[in-house]
Amino acid sequence: MSTADLAIYAVIVIIAIFEIYMIIYLIEHLVCINVLHQVPFVATGKHAKKLLVQEIKKHYPNTKNICEIGSGYGSLARFLGKKTGANVVALENMPFSAFISKTADLIQNKSKTIKCDAFDYLTKTKQKFDIGIAYLSPNDSFRLLKYKNKIKTLITLDFAISGVKPTRTIDVGHGYTFYNHKPYPHKIFIYEFK
Ligand SMILES: C[S@@+](CC[C@H](N)C(=O)[O-])C[C@H]1O[C@@H](n2cnc3c(N)ncnc32)[C@H](O)[C@@H]1O
Repeated sequence: MSTADLAIYAVIVIIAIFEIYMIIYLIEHLVCINVLHQVPFVATGKHAKKLLVQEIKKHYPNTKNICEIGSGYGSLARFLGKKTGANVVALENMPFSAFISKTADLIQNKSKTIKCDAFDYLTKTKQKFDIGIAYLSPNDSFRLLKYKNKIKTLITLDFAISGVKPTRTIDVGHGYTFYNHKPYPHKIFIYEFK
């Protein structure tokens, strides 16, 4: 087999892997939207991640435990683990997203991904978290109020908790998350529970 043949096979394999990835990604996306009625995987932007770390370092320097509620591929969870030094638990219910996140955890060792429904986990766990971070739908963000006894400070991304005044709001500056055809500007909402 010539070098040119090998190169062609390598390209075909890479394209096939990419296509399989795209098909699985699309299936998870459609299941999230049409079956589970939850926000699908959308990565938190770089700027929002930096602002989150600044916020935690400034207002919650003693943070030891963080829970990311709906963590997708886990890049935010790993970033928080790396930048704050806290123990980060990343909860994700979609199998492929959780698999990618767990694989990346093995390499980086900055967070721990658990494949589960985040609400079931929070109901059952006895652990308390200094900070909970959620980039979920408006309805799901509201459901998190039930876990005030386990999460000292709740931070929601883009979706405010209806009827609750945030302790602080940070404007991320540009861009929107679209949910149910409605644009939600990128913002960080912080709720301190006494
Ligand atoms: C908008 S993404 C957040 C991505 C993550 N913050 C990041 O920056 O990489 C929301 C994620 O929450 C997950 N999710 C939604 N509802 C969930 C639930 N009840 N339990 C666990 N994960 C959930 C979705 O599958 C999706 O991956």
